[in-house]
Amino acid sequence: MKRIAFHNREKETKEIMDILDAEPSLITFVYGPINSGKTTMVSHLIEELPKNQKVFYINLRGRLISNYDEFIKVLFDVEHEERYEQIKKFLKPVVNVLPESYSGIPIPKDLFLKLFKEKEVEDAFVYIETVLRAFYKNDQNPVLVIDELQVIGDLKIDGFLIYKLFNFFVRLTKELHLAHVFVVTSDSLFIEQVYSQAMLKGRCRYLLVDDFDYETAAAFLKGYGITDEDMRVVWGYCGGKPVCLVELINCGNREEKAKEMFTFRIGELETQLKLVKELGDEIMIGSKRCDVHYEKLVATLKMFVSREEIGMNEVDEVSKRYLVKENILFVDPLTAMIAPQSRLDMLAIREVMRDA
Ligand SMILES: Nc1ncnc2c1ncn2[C@@H]1O[C@H](COP(=O)(O)OP(=O)(O)O)[C@@H](O)[C@H]1O
Ligand SMILES: [Mg+2]
Repeated sequence: MKRIAFHNREKETKEIMDILDAEPSLITFVYGPINSGKTTMVSHLIEELPKNQKVFYINLRGRLISNYDEFIKVLFDVEHEERYEQIKKFLKPVVNVLPESYSGIPIPKDLFLKLFKEKEVEDAFVYIETVLRAFYKNDQNPVLVIDELQVIGDLKIDGFLIYKLFNFFVRLTKELHLAHVFVVTSDSLFIEQVYSQAMLKGRCRYLLVDDFDYETAAAFLKGYGITDEDMRVVWGYCGGKPVCLVELINCGNREEKAKEMFTFRIGELETQLKLVKELGDEIMIGSKRCDVHYEKLVATLKMFVSREEIGMNEVDEVSKRYLVKENILFVDPLTAMIAPQSRLDMLAIREVMRDA
């Protein structure tokens, strides 16, 4: 088995290191198409940080969060038994700064239940803030990373939880300069919503982690002895999507595998469009239920036959949201452009649109 080492990301890493070097003042949203390497980059960077810089990394991916209790459990990772010990360690320095009512260090699970059972979300925030303060020493601000935050985008706990969180993040950064806050997401509709959010204006920055460009992808493949001929094939089908490059590095017949991936994606796309054509579909926009129209989807996708990206306002909102939600298209609110999620998607769209 080949072990694939972390590759490059120099520019993005430098940007994040510069952010960490300064006093926290803005929330950083790390965004980009799916499987572009956001989680990998952030995880790698966390490992490289000096040991005295405390990092709290929370990944909401695949977590079912439908109420306050579940959210709190994920935040503190109490579902993992082995973490109890960690929580205990985590609490030690906090004890001194906690209000008097939190005496001693009880068994973490009990403490947890006592602290958060039927409490307000704000109590959890006060607690987190206290913990962060305890870890703020020697000029090293603690770092809070929340991956896949959009998972709780619709969650209502006495109003939308996401806005309470954003307020809390603004407090940690702009107001208290206490902790660096990074929010990572592949959901470009979520980023679009964040981008248009009045309460976040001037309080956050955006960092795009895109698929590798040609030079970066070529250097990555070269490191594993891939021939120029194979490189042409791999780039031709998959562009610089890291997850695809890794898969192709690891296989024997690259051209065959790349063609297989292409055929598979075409099949998926065809089936999806067929379903809408035959059964129709609908999506929610706010509290409004909207019909998805096959003809409009096709008209949108046809624009990519001759272009690699289109303007955000060239397509109807329902088709745009549907295709983004289904991970076929990616919106970049900063450039106001829409592009396929990957080169493979672009080629598949072109192929399917020839017969549509
Ligand atoms: N910089 C990198 N070097 C090597 N492999 C990478 C790199 N970035 C991503 N990958 C590969 O691509 C896969 C998907 O990346 P991931 O970080 O999960 O994407 P995202 O979080 O953007 O959806 C990873 O599991 C890894 O195999
Ligand atoms: Mg990820």
